[in-house]
Formats: sequence, structure tokens, C-alpha cells
Amino acid sequence: MTKNNKNIVLIGFMGVGKTSVGRLLSQKINYNFIDTDFEIEKESSMTVEEIFSKYGEEYFRELERRVVAKVSKYSNTVVSTGGGTVLNFENIQMLRQNGFIFLLKAFPETILKNIQRQGNRPLLKEKEGIKRIKDLLKEREEKYKYFDYEISVDNLSVEQIVDRMIEVLKEKKIYGC
Ligand code: S3P
Repeated sequence: MTKNNKNIVLIGFMGVGKTSVGRLLSQKINYNFIDTDFEIEKESSMTVEEIFSKYGEEYFRELERRVVAKVSKYSNTVVSTGGGTVLNFENIQMLRQNGFIFLLKAFPETILKNIQRQGNRPLLKEKEGIKRIKDLLKEREEKYKYFDYEISVDNLSVEQIVDRMIEVLKEKKIYGC
């Protein structure tokens, strides 16, 4: 099996499934797996929610930037990012240097369903619902345009998304026989 050393990076809005998809993809293609939120939590010994409530978003973004700088130097790693990683263009530039970027996209209704199941997003409190998701999606639309391949995940299982990604990686000769 050939690997061309590139990282495979997943970007996209909260609740599109970046973590579950990234983890399964890494297992199937035998890459390392990093989730930037988990890495931030590990390094700071706090949950993302705690960081936001104690120190605010700006502080969180700085921790996120540092983790992105670190993981961008890795190779053969699947990197699932946080939904707001794209807000800082420097992050995208770093991730692109040695990374193939997948954008996962979903309708607001799918996002709401996924987020309600998990309920741990400081920027999306449940009561604000679909309107808040639509507003934030619109606000961030421009930021999600730097990717190599886009996948709409509505009505697809994690398994189906991962299989599609592997097909793409083979087509692009990033991974394959
Ligand atoms: C955020 C997304 C979250 C997490 C933080 C901020 C965002 O990650 O990084 O709550 O600004 O979109 P997920 O995309 O994994 O939910």
C-alpha cells in the first residue's frame, strides 16, 4: 500500500461528523489520527467548554493555532479540525502545506440533529437552534472555500463517507496500491 506522506485534513462546520469520520478513515487506511479539539484538551487539561467559559474564544483560538502548527508538521496523519479552525487563514495555509483537505458539508437540519445529540458546543447553545446555525453558516461561508474535495454528508453513514473518501484518495494517488 503506498502512502504519499500527506496528511488528510477534515474541515467543516460543527456537527458534520469530522471526528467520527476522521477516526474511522484513519483506522481503515492505517494512518495516525489527531483531533485538534482533543489535542487542545489534552494539552490544556481542560475541556473546550471550560476553555471558552474561563478564558474566552480568543484564548481558545490561540491554543487551536498552536496545535494546528504542530500537527501540520506531521505526515500520514488524519487530522480532524474544529469547525472554527478555518477562521484563521494562517491555519489553512499551514494545513495545506502537507495536507489534502476534505470539506464535509451538511444541511443545517442535519447539523442541528447531530449537535443536539452531543450538546457540548459553546458557540451553539441548543435553545438558539436552527436560526443560529444558519446565521453562523452564512457568516463562515467564505472561510470554508479552501479545500481539495467536498463531500455532502446528509443521509450518508460514517462508513459511506469514509468509503467515498478512500475512493477519492486513490483517484488522486494520495493513497492506494
Ligand atoms: C467550534 C467548533 C468545535 C470546537 C469549538 C469551536 C467552532 O469543534 O472547536 O467548540 O467555532 O465552530 P467541532 O467542529 O468539532 O464541533
